[in-house]
Amino acid sequence: MKKVLVTGALGQIGSELVVKLKNVYGEDNVIASGRRKKGPYDGLFELVDVTQPEQIFEVVKKHKVDWVIHLAALLSAVGENNPTAAWNINMGGLFNILEVAKQEGCGVFVPSSIAAFGPNTPKINTPQDTIQRPTTMYGVTKVAGEILCDYYYKRFGVDTRGVRFPGLISYETLPGGGTTDYAVHIYYEALKQKKFTCPLDKETHMDMMYMPDALNAIVNLMEADDSKLIHRNAFNIASMSFCPEDICKSIQKFIPEFTMDYDINPTLQNIANSWPDSLDDSNARNEWGWKPEYDLDSMTKDMLEKLREKLDIK
Ligand code: SER
Repeated sequence: MKKVLVTGALGQIGSELVVKLKNVYGEDNVIASGRRKKGPYDGLFELVDVTQPEQIFEVVKKHKVDWVIHLAALLSAVGENNPTAAWNINMGGLFNILEVAKQEGCGVFVPSSIAAFGPNTPKINTPQDTIQRPTTMYGVTKVAGEILCDYYYKRFGVDTRGVRFPGLISYETLPGGGTTDYAVHIYYEALKQKKFTCPLDKETHMDMMYMPDALNAIVNLMEADDSKLIHRNAFNIASMSFCPEDICKSIQKFIPEFTMDYDINPTLQNIANSWPDSLDDSNARNEWGWKPEYDLDSMTKDMLEKLREKLDIK
C-alpha cells in the first residue's frame, strides 16, 4: 500500500482528495498537511509550510511517505495581486518537494493548469505539446513547474506525474481565488438568491471539470503503468468547455427563475481571454485511459442537489 502525503490538504481539491485517497489506500496511509490547521481534523494531519524544506523532510521521514501529492499553491487571481508571493510559494514549494522526493525516494504528483498556456497558444483543441507563453505569474510558475518536474524525472529519476487541470467545480470547499471561480459561485447564488452577477463576459469559454472526475484523474495517473507513459507531467485533460451563458442556461433547466447579469472584472477577463477554450486530451486518453464522466448538465444536477443539502435550502 502506498503512503501518501497531501500538501494543501485543506484547499478545494485537497479536502475531497484526502477522503478519496483514504478509501483507496486506507485511513492510516494518507497524511493530510497544511500551513495552518483550521479547527479539529478527522485523521492524520501535519503542519507543513512548503517553503520550509526541513518541515517537509521531517514529515516524509516520520511517516515513511512514498508519494507526495503537492497541491499547496496560490491561484491565478490571487497571484496577480501578489506575484512575489505566487513565485515564492509556487516555485519555492515545488522545488523543496522535488528535493525531498529525490533524497527520500518518493513519487510526486503535481497539478499544472490551463493557465500554463497564453494568448498565442492555439485556443481550440489546444495540443498537448504547443506554445506556452502565459501572461500571469501563476501561469509562469505552472510552466516552470512542468519543466522542473520533467527535469527531476530525467536527471534524478524522480517519478513525477501530473495533469493540467481546467477550472474545477465542487461543493465541498470553495476555490481560493482563481479566474474560473465564478463557475462555483454561480451555483451558490442560484440557490440562495436566484440571481448571479457574472465577472466574465457571456461568451468567455474556458475548460472546466467536475471534482469527481478531477479526483479520478489524480488516482488513475498515479496508478498508471509506468511503461505506457510517454509524457509524465502536464497531461492535458478535458471534460467540458463552456461560457457563462451556457452554465446559466444549464442552471435554468433546474431553476427556471434564475437570472444572470454582468459586471466585468477587467483583471479576470484579461486572464480568461489568454487561456484556451478547449484542450485536446488524446494523450491522456491513450497513455493512461483518461475518461471523464460528467458533462455540464449532469454536473449542474449533482451540484444543485448536493448544495441544496449542504446549505439546507428546500
Ligand atoms: N482554476 C485555476 C484558476 O482559475 C486555473 O488553474 O486560477
